[in-house]
Amino acid sequence: MIHPGAIQLNAIAPYFTMFPLDFPLSLLQERAKRGERVLDPFCGRGTTNFAARLLGLDSLGVDVNPVAVAITAAKLVSPTVEEILAEAKRILARPAPKDKPEGEFWTWAYHPATLQDILRFREAFLEESSSPVRLALRGLLLGALHGPLKKPGTYLSNQAPRTYAPKPAYAVRFWRARGLKPPRVDVLEVLRRRAHRYYTHPLPELGKVLLGDSRRMETFKEEKEKFHWVITSPPYYGMRTYIADQWLRYWFLGGPDSVSYGQNSGMNHGSPEHFASDLAKVWNNIALQCEDGAVMVIRFGGIGSRKANPLGLLFESLGYTPWKVVEIRPVPPAPRSRRQAISFLREVDPQVTEWDCFCRLVG
Ligand SMILES: C[S@@+](CC[C@H](N)C(=O)[O-])C[C@H]1O[C@@H](n2cnc3c(N)ncnc32)[C@H](O)[C@@H]1O
Repeated sequence: MIHPGAIQLNAIAPYFTMFPLDFPLSLLQERAKRGERVLDPFCGRGTTNFAARLLGLDSLGVDVNPVAVAITAAKLVSPTVEEILAEAKRILARPAPKDKPEGEFWTWAYHPATLQDILRFREAFLEESSSPVRLALRGLLLGALHGPLKKPGTYLSNQAPRTYAPKPAYAVRFWRARGLKPPRVDVLEVLRRRAHRYYTHPLPELGKVLLGDSRRMETFKEEKEKFHWVITSPPYYGMRTYIADQWLRYWFLGGPDSVSYGQNSGMNHGSPEHFASDLAKVWNNIALQCEDGAVMVIRFGGIGSRKANPLGLLFESLGYTPWKVVEIRPVPPAPRSRRQAISFLREVDPQVTEWDCFCRLVG
């Protein structure tokens, strides 16, 4: 029996287009055997990895986006609440970093004292962020970095969406027009509440996440053991702003202090053919990492502004790979807020169906 409190950790920080935990969890619960290993080459915020961990299965997640990797990493560790808070206090006692981001956005987004605390954490994590306690603390801060003001002391920022980072010029106009000053936030108190919510029910430390490009064979070069399951969801064709839309969290992890739309989106969205060819590279790479007979389940759909047929594109990508499609199921409609292509993704066409494509590896 999984303790309901342990499941909380899956929600440590929001991320784009995550699928519901129940999707990988019920598949693995019904069909995976003890000792089987699970792979997600487009792991996002690590929903598949977390489902595997809940069931005591080892897993690997890969993502090109450092924000996704940091959130996933926080979901694979179990330091105690006391360890987390002791480390937070140590970091908060450091001298304030001299370098701070400049510009109007930053004076409106955070109270100066809160920003100094955020900078202390940012600097500390850039020095070291591999221990379980730092991974957990970093995940907690990513979840708290921005969000609505309505529950004071929940988020560190001025009024902002929690799922995606505000666009700077728009946000400044919004705050100024409403006279919204950034609140002074007790960062330790925010962390205390969050640590209690997410890390009270320890789970065995299982699973790993890598920052990398799943189109490249080198990404998997350290992997010695094969996988039995792949449960994944690639970006939908045309959805390329994963990093830009998370630019504040990306900054916190060491990125620039302004939005840039030039980062590597991970896939070639130039045409459906290019995109299918990139997907095929991933399917071929991971086939080499999987046992014969391994099962791969791909959740896929489309976004409204791109008229490519998602299933056609997916079949094309699988055509020249050793993965054979055995079943296609439409994803049952869920409330709009719970669909994988979740509500803040304004481009999503509500008419577009999502599909689960079941494949088997034939050697
Ligand atoms: C639809 S999201 C996955 C969401 C995930 N199922 C979850 O529950 O959070 C697709 C992910 O693929 C990542 N991605 C895109 N291109 C990639 C590549 N070439 N290699 C690895 N990850 C990639 C994106 O950064 C994004 O996080």
